[in-house]
Amino acid sequence: MSNAASKTFTLTDNQSGESFDLPVFDGSVGPSVIDVRRLYGDTGHFTYDPGFTSTGSCDSAITFIDGDEGILLHRGYAIDDLAERADFLEVAYLLLNGELPTAAQKATFDHDVTYHTMLHEQLSNFYRGFRRDAHPMAIMCGVVGALSAFYHDSLDIYDPHQRMVASFRLVAKMPTIAAMAYKYSIGQPFNYPQNDLSYAENFLHMMFSVPSETYVMNPVLSKAMDRIFILHADHEQNASTSTVRLAGSSGANPFACIAAGIASLWGPAHGGANEAVLNMLTEIGHKDRIAEYIKKARDKDDPFRLFGFGHRVYKNYDPRAKVMQETCHEVLAELGVEDPLLDLAMELEKLALEDEYFVSRKLYPNVDFYSGIILKAMGFPVSMFTVLFAVARTVGWVAQWKEMIEDPGQKIGRPRQLYTGPDARPYIPIDQR
Ligand code: CMC
Repeated sequence: MSNAASKTFTLTDNQSGESFDLPVFDGSVGPSVIDVRRLYGDTGHFTYDPGFTSTGSCDSAITFIDGDEGILLHRGYAIDDLAERADFLEVAYLLLNGELPTAAQKATFDHDVTYHTMLHEQLSNFYRGFRRDAHPMAIMCGVVGALSAFYHDSLDIYDPHQRMVASFRLVAKMPTIAAMAYKYSIGQPFNYPQNDLSYAENFLHMMFSVPSETYVMNPVLSKAMDRIFILHADHEQNASTSTVRLAGSSGANPFACIAAGIASLWGPAHGGANEAVLNMLTEIGHKDRIAEYIKKARDKDDPFRLFGFGHRVYKNYDPRAKVMQETCHEVLAELGVEDPLLDLAMELEKLALEDEYFVSRKLYPNVDFYSGIILKAMGFPVSMFTVLFAVARTVGWVAQWKEMIEDPGQKIGRPRQLYTGPDARPYIPIDQR
């Protein structure tokens, strides 16, 4: 904690009448925090906050979200501005270094990242160990985790140079790993990266080109891909980022920590929602059935949730969803695709936003609501949607991991609990139970 406490927050024990003053710290913007680090020592109590709905776990200067206003800033720059005017590697530089690069810094950064796009050739053997129908997120967890066995020279996480090299490697290799997972699943040869292409172009090339044909890059699609990467690059202390931080807080290998982040992202409540949205829209199938699904989402006895709706932090429109919706229209117009799922999605959005259940709970479309429709139109199979999220989010994970390691006050993450199991009891031999 760099600044001094701005005031104190007084907690009174109603039984003993004792009062405890807890320091309050202010961030640069956003809510202040009550510092409870001494709470257990002073009072013998823990705080209780499953799901961390009111708990700040770290100081961070990377990303700011105002969920009520629908604002997302990276290092102070608005997401829609970045999506409109920057490219993905510029945003990556910003997240990792804190400032936008000069032209010379950008050229060096692009070179440093693209220098690491190839994978150790032996890693391609890992793919052959997976079933062809394995989910690509399962392959991502395995192969990214395996990187930790290949890059021994990046093991000293307390050396800033090695930390930066590990960061470049992760950002650079992720598209290669993702595209290889796809190529493996369809039985096509792996494509090597082409370093004269941009980050997004290179990814499209590795995904969709085949040795027997010339791949023609469509600038509208590569721009859309780049924008999708920017929109997913970082998002504060979400589940996967917190997972990376928690795994890394023990001093673990960064490649293994990112593999943990990928595992967390996979779930349908998090990054897996983009896949779930498309499956849901397909299942709804027709505008006439929307009301039925909204009813299911409202029903407390039905576990169904409207995927692509709601967010822990945004209680207003997700600013990423706005850009995503525009990009969706651009891509479909460019490809001349008339996807009935887009009409269905727009109608679903309209009806849900008029529905009292969604209005009263401030449930708005999130970033994943439109991304699946764009990705499908671009030719990505549904199972790859969350993989693309992982490719983009890697820079956010790495930036947050670096920030944590560089924080002099960093400690191993170790939450406490409210124990509800049995008290101490004697062991009963098996023949007496
Ligand atoms: N459909 C129906 N009801 C919902 C939905 C939904 N999508 N989302 C929240 N609710 C209800 C929920 O049942 C609860 O109602 P009540 O107060 O009556 O119990 C209320 O809204 C608050 O929800 P919550 O579960 O307490 O909110 P949360 O902050 O724990 O969950 C969420 C956030 C994103 C997990 C949740 O909104 C959700 O499951 N959405 C669908 C999955 C999704 O689209 N996830 C992508 C998130 S954006 C991409 C990313 O960052 O990963």
